[in-house]
Amino acid sequence: MLIKRSTPHHPTERDVTPEAVYQDRRLILKGLGLGTASLAFPAQASLLDLFSDEKAAPAPATKEIHYKAAARPEGVTLTPLEKATTHNNFYELGTDKGEPARNAHYLKPEPWALKVEGEVAKPFTLDVWDLINKTELEERIYRLRCVEAWSMVLPWSGIALADLIRRAEPTSRAKFVAFETLYDPEQLPGQASSNLGGGIDYPYVEGLRMDEAMHPLSFLAMGLYGKTLPAQNGAPIRLVVPWKYGFKSIKSIVSIRLVEEMPPTTWNLLAPNEYGFYANVNPQVDHPRWSQASERFIGEGGIFGAKRQPTLLFNGYGDEVASLYQGMDLRKWY
Ligand code: MTE
Repeated sequence: MLIKRSTPHHPTERDVTPEAVYQDRRLILKGLGLGTASLAFPAQASLLDLFSDEKAAPAPATKEIHYKAAARPEGVTLTPLEKATTHNNFYELGTDKGEPARNAHYLKPEPWALKVEGEVAKPFTLDVWDLINKTELEERIYRLRCVEAWSMVLPWSGIALADLIRRAEPTSRAKFVAFETLYDPEQLPGQASSNLGGGIDYPYVEGLRMDEAMHPLSFLAMGLYGKTLPAQNGAPIRLVVPWKYGFKSIKSIVSIRLVEEMPPTTWNLLAPNEYGFYANVNPQVDHPRWSQASERFIGEGGIFGAKRQPTLLFNGYGDEVASLYQGMDLRKWY
């Protein structure tokens, strides 16, 4: 991927590095004697670590989880696990698609506390591993459509977001839900390095309107393909909102705060003309720099050569969610 390292980096449809180009870049960096001076990495994340497979500590192993399996829908091709764990957006672990997997070992997802707070009668802090170990999670097969015009279909396991929010007893002032990713540059080295982390003002934040958050499709995933989440996919707990562009699906969440006002969101802060608060998948509303009319489905073959398919309004979940936006001009509220 060609990254404009000096300015905040946000995705382009071309943000996919062919393996050969990536390997070339690794060789160049090695040949340059790892010109680290220009790259402001935190002490514990040297360039050597990031570009040396030999030195990389293994990422925490994923564990089997209990979940109620979903029926595999007929005629739907799932994205293989290997693709879903090596083609990622998790800028805190690197902006290249392969970097989050290579840097996964930095993130220590156990133990993990998640707060549910704000405009609620009963705020609480939850041990996410209690939730994983003591709940029968439900499996959902969801399409995830990235703003970069690629998509995947994956079996996630978790719980409805509404279940967790209800436990905190929202007050009548709760109009929006604000989510926050862990802020810890030792575990998420991109937070301390604009080179690695794309110049984003961390922690990564996202938001939903209250009715969107309470919608039965909104899901807190703790598993993928029947095992706990790999770090690069947002361990140990991440959001999946299948009718919105992938960037709404915030990873490695530590706080869910119910609030009165529309909360700030990372990509909207970075480029408000490109990324709105709603971010509903919509083939008729192009990203200012590329069309959203079609997408490449990442299946067996990966993104190169992947068949283009038409993008569906609300990512195909219109029957379930279109009523949330009745009367809204979706060109204005993109
Ligand atoms: N969450 C955090 N904390 N940081 C990120 O960079 N990227 C988002 C979203 N959640 C991101 C994040 C984007 S742009 C996408 S497309 C999805 O995660 C990708 O999820 P996946 O890597 O599991 O496919």
